[in-house]
Amino acid sequence: MSPQTQRIQFAHGFRGSLTLPGDKSISHRYAMLAGLAEGTSHLSNFSTGADPHSTLACMEALGAQVVRTEERTVTITGVGGSFRQPTAPLDCGNSGSTMRMLSGLIAPHPHTFTLIGDASLSQRPMERIRKPLEQFFAGGQGSINLSDGHAPVVIHGGPLSGMSFDALIPSAQVKTAVLFAGLQATGLTTLTEKIRTRDHTEHALRAFGAALTRSGETLSISGPQTLHAINATVPGDLSSAAFFLCAALLFPDSHLVLDALGMNPTRAALLDVVTALGARMKVLSVEEQHGELIGTIQVNADPVPRSRSQQPLEISGALTAQLIDELPILAAIAPYTASGIRVRDAKELRVKESDRIDLIARNLRAMGATLTEVEDGLDVPGNQRLHGAEIDAGGDHRIAMAFAVAALRAHGDSLILGAEHAAVSFPEFFTHLNTLSLR
Ligand code: S3P
Repeated sequence: MSPQTQRIQFAHGFRGSLTLPGDKSISHRYAMLAGLAEGTSHLSNFSTGADPHSTLACMEALGAQVVRTEERTVTITGVGGSFRQPTAPLDCGNSGSTMRMLSGLIAPHPHTFTLIGDASLSQRPMERIRKPLEQFFAGGQGSINLSDGHAPVVIHGGPLSGMSFDALIPSAQVKTAVLFAGLQATGLTTLTEKIRTRDHTEHALRAFGAALTRSGETLSISGPQTLHAINATVPGDLSSAAFFLCAALLFPDSHLVLDALGMNPTRAALLDVVTALGARMKVLSVEEQHGELIGTIQVNADPVPRSRSQQPLEISGALTAQLIDELPILAAIAPYTASGIRVRDAKELRVKESDRIDLIARNLRAMGATLTEVEDGLDVPGNQRLHGAEIDAGGDHRIAMAFAVAALRAHGDSLILGAEHAAVSFPEFFTHLNTLSLR
């Protein structure tokens, strides 16, 4: 990726309609399960982001056949249950999802795997997957080794025995690693999550033919089970849509229609929050495919009230976990809202692709905003006026996109340094932002 700077100017409105590329989380899961399954899966509207393409490259290295047939369509012929020994380290790029979820998928296979990543991924915590995988290996020949809690992740695969795991950190990636391993382990695996995280893995496993159950906070899966190929369309990515939904909120008379959008209830808290901040939202249609809800929504916003001061909108507890990828954009636009926001229980934001709390605070201050940063969150008051600034994306796709949206309402131009990182999840972002912004 060559470094890129994007200049963002003040906009007067935000209007248009769009179909978003496929959801990043679902694309990863479909790619991994299709790679393990028997038969050929056809996946349309696959994510265009670099991260799910890192997963596809890993699946090829593990023996799956991947054909990228036309734009956003991918055909994957799986290995029918047996991955091969890769000839080189599995390169996960910037993708924590690839590294963590794939570790669970490959652990039962009798090879040695080394998973590597870029500089950002190599600093992210991996102990959270080592612990449960060690439990699966209990007493057997397999092992998993890290370098001081980080990548490279070296897995000596071997037979797994079902086990019980209490998820202390709310993480869908860790849950997925456990369920993918449990699928191939002998006996019963249970996982208890106190805070419910996105449930794409549960839907995807069922779509590929696996049986698993949920009772309250506990998921149960018995192994080993075999998977069968599917034909599926990946729903549009709601976390990518979030940037445009929040942009629409900032302009009087805005109008945005998004179709074929993923509206899974464990991801859709954003729609409530954007409504609470002043948008008017209509669901024009909704249907279910492979357990996932896909719909068309229309969003309009009224002028942002400047005078009323209200209680800040509170995002904490389980809501924080559901909005974890949308917190950068919500915080970046919070100064323009009437109420502002108060975010708590968001310590996980400090170990994402960057320390997002620190970068949000630094970039908002560069734009002239007043805010308070705490260890696990931020207080960003509303009713503020911002000016254009040089924004440091810090190598983080969501920071680059969040501040490009904030810059639309700032007085004076902004420069987004590191804009190329948007390609990690949403390469078309700046093109769409330009088309939808009225100048
Ligand atoms: C993801 C889970 C979340 C999220 C990430 C994608 C997933 O990470 O931030 O962008 O696809 O399961 P954690 O599991 O670390 O919370």
